Amino acid sequence: MAVWLVTGGAGFIGSNFIYFLLKTYPGDRVICFDALTYCGNLKTLDRAMADSRFVFIQGDITDPAAVNLCFEAHKPDYVVNFAAESHVDRSIRQPDIFIKTNVSGVQVLMDACRTYGCGRFHQVSTDEVYGDLPLDRPDLKFTEESPLQPSSPYSASKASADLLVQAYFRTFKLPVSISRCSNNYGPFHFPEKLIPLTITNALHDKRLPVYGDGQNVRDWLYVNDHCRAIDMIVRSGKPGSLFNVGGGSEYANISIVGLILEKLNKPQSLIEFVADRHGHDLRYAIDASKIRSELGWEPLCGFDEGINQTLDWYLNNKDWWCRLVADG
Ligand SMILES: NC(=O)c1ccc[n+]([C@@H]2O[C@H](COP(=O)([O-])OP(=O)(O)OC[C@H]3O[C@@H](n4cnc5c(N)ncnc54)[C@H](O)[C@@H]3O)[C@@H](O)[C@H]2O)c1
Repeated sequence: MAVWLVTGGAGFIGSNFIYFLLKTYPGDRVICFDALTYCGNLKTLDRAMADSRFVFIQGDITDPAAVNLCFEAHKPDYVVNFAAESHVDRSIRQPDIFIKTNVSGVQVLMDACRTYGCGRFHQVSTDEVYGDLPLDRPDLKFTEESPLQPSSPYSASKASADLLVQAYFRTFKLPVSISRCSNNYGPFHFPEKLIPLTITNALHDKRLPVYGDGQNVRDWLYVNDHCRAIDMIVRSGKPGSLFNVGGGSEYANISIVGLILEKLNKPQSLIEFVADRHGHDLRYAIDASKIRSELGWEPLCGFDEGINQTLDWYLNNKDWWCRLVADG
């Protein structure tokens, strides 16, 4: 029986990971440690709260006393860090909190792992640490050897954390791993990001802001496939290892928005092109051959199936997102 500490588990991917663990490993216990910032939502964890194997702790990963108390009480075998400030636009407006949570918070967590011991510290990173690729070179993809060339304060903070994690492996032999994943989509995604924003605005017949000419390309992965990849890396990836994770589903932002409008039977005239984001990355594309060959991972959910499931979820869970949209 293992004890998992999932930081940032009241957010989008962390909560999906908690449900994945509770379903996949009936003998394991799961501790969620989350500060409940604007995008953390206890309602997301309603079903988990009803499970005796689950414990929720409200706490900040940059607070060593709170983190140490949690480690002392629960002695986690595996620590998976999802806690982060994750929205690029916010990082352009307010970089300081990104450095604090996304870099200092990781140091605090790893120091607790050193003090109390743990079988694995896994850092959930992003393909955005590699910067971007040109639109006219579809042959190019990010590999684990691609240089770190982050474009935004968000991606720079994530790249910094990755370097710190690698340094803790080298210096302290902390058993760490890192995954760098492409864009996720699925249930419980906060409605400020492209796919949930498009769905929730369209359902309210509100304008859909699209940056620039909408040609920026992202590589999309259904969230459950990301959760499966992290679990495989934690259990089977060597200490110190790093894996890219991606679905090989590249779409221009404008195609995604158009597709969602079509599926919801809403007019394309809802699209509104707005001034481009500063430093907007053109294209992300992941070469995931390492995790496929070394760990046997592959995505199980294609984009069409995943987007249909996501649309169904938002249509059937209006009580979850309507309040968030109203608050925003
Ligand atoms: N969403 C994506 O497409 C994507 C892709 C690749 C990697 N990632 C990475 O995955 C992780 C999770 O992303 P997400 O989209 O689920 O984010 P999210 O914004 O939905 O959730 C982040 C969670 O972290 C919590 N949190 C924030 N600051 C905290 C702090 N100081 N202490 C404790 N908890 C804190 C929030 O309350 C929230 O519950 C992030 O590290 C992100 O960089 C995301």
